[in-house]
Amino acid sequence: MKIPFGTISITDKAKMLVNEALESKKVSQGKFVREFEEKYAELVGSKEAVALSSGTDADILALAVLYDFGACRGDEVIIPSLSFVATGNAVLQAGFIPIFVDIERNTLNINPDKIEAAITDKTRAIMPVHLMGKPAQMDKINAIAKKHKLFVIEDAAEAHGAVYKGKNIGTWGDMAAYSLYVAHIITTIEGGVVVTDRPDFADVLRSLRSHGRFCKCNKCVMSTGAVTCSKRFKKGQDLRFFFERVGYSSKMNELEAAVGLGNLEIYDEILSKRRENLRYLFENFTQFAPLLNTITEEEYEEIGPHAFPVIVGERAGFTRDELVEYLKNKGIDSRNLFLSMPTQCPGFEFLGHKLGEFPEAEYVADNGFHIGIHQDIGVKECRYFLDSVKEFLKDNA
Ligand SMILES: Cc1ncc(COP(=O)(O)O)c(C=O)c1O
Repeated sequence: MKIPFGTISITDKAKMLVNEALESKKVSQGKFVREFEEKYAELVGSKEAVALSSGTDADILALAVLYDFGACRGDEVIIPSLSFVATGNAVLQAGFIPIFVDIERNTLNINPDKIEAAITDKTRAIMPVHLMGKPAQMDKINAIAKKHKLFVIEDAAEAHGAVYKGKNIGTWGDMAAYSLYVAHIITTIEGGVVVTDRPDFADVLRSLRSHGRFCKCNKCVMSTGAVTCSKRFKKGQDLRFFFERVGYSSKMNELEAAVGLGNLEIYDEILSKRRENLRYLFENFTQFAPLLNTITEEEYEEIGPHAFPVIVGERAGFTRDELVEYLKNKGIDSRNLFLSMPTQCPGFEFLGHKLGEFPEAEYVADNGFHIGIHQDIGVKECRYFLDSVKEFLKDNA
């Protein structure tokens, strides 16, 4: 049996829309992107959605919005020490300094009890990540943010469909950034989207994705809020060459939006299939504890069914790499569980952190992996994975 890590669903509707866009030659950001944004906002339950070219850009642009709202270059943003590296890259690329806080091994998310100690006069935002779709503890995080007057930007790249304490993930923070990369629950192949309830944030996002100019729909010019364009814009000036802020080139195109619209049509189907796989694995994986552990779904949350994480226990007597190799030979594809950005990613060395500073993140990085639970596999494949793990343990534990 082969269990691939990911898949993509390209529906007939997507193919039809892609053709329509190609035939019309209107392929850059246009009506499909706008339709995708409207539908995505509705899905999450937020007022606005701004589609972008990647989840990384979604993180970067959401952060860059803060310059219109009092932040300065070189200010600090608190993030978990373990995430896909894009989270840390985004903070730096937006011009902020990442301040890392260790994670909890059992949730894989930022440890909220360690956040306050990391706050300084320069802190402007907290950016929790809902890793593997498991909601970060947003009630605690929002309370800290409120107390210290900080913005909250959710990195919800892996958390499509997640719910925390009766409220959708993506609606807890000031903004939430999603990835629509091919490995994710809804995909546009490459893509990202930021959701927010604040129209003034959405205006700045639309400007930022297009080099910092006014957006073509003129919405930014007309809006009030924090967008100061109207004061500086001279009557008669060419709007296309008036750049209000330092921007990016991060638009989604019509072909990507077409694939996304196709995906949205079957979103419920994809989500329930993935949920079924995830719950089956959760229910049956406890037999391997404490040699092998995973996250748990609490009664107050629904984990976004992104993937199934496994963390090898401290006294297991075998390594993650040995198990991963065994599974690979059984046809089961997996990926390691990311790195502690400040202490295990060479690109972050210049920040001066030392191995050992983030013990939980480093443990998970050295001992964790995840497998796909996507819509092209079912209970049969999940059972095969569990049987393979059992076989491995018989010989190795
Ligand atoms: C937590 C997290 N943040 C950001 C990203 C970046 O998304 P993208 O690959 O679409 O740029 C990812 C990608 O998977 C992610 O997992």
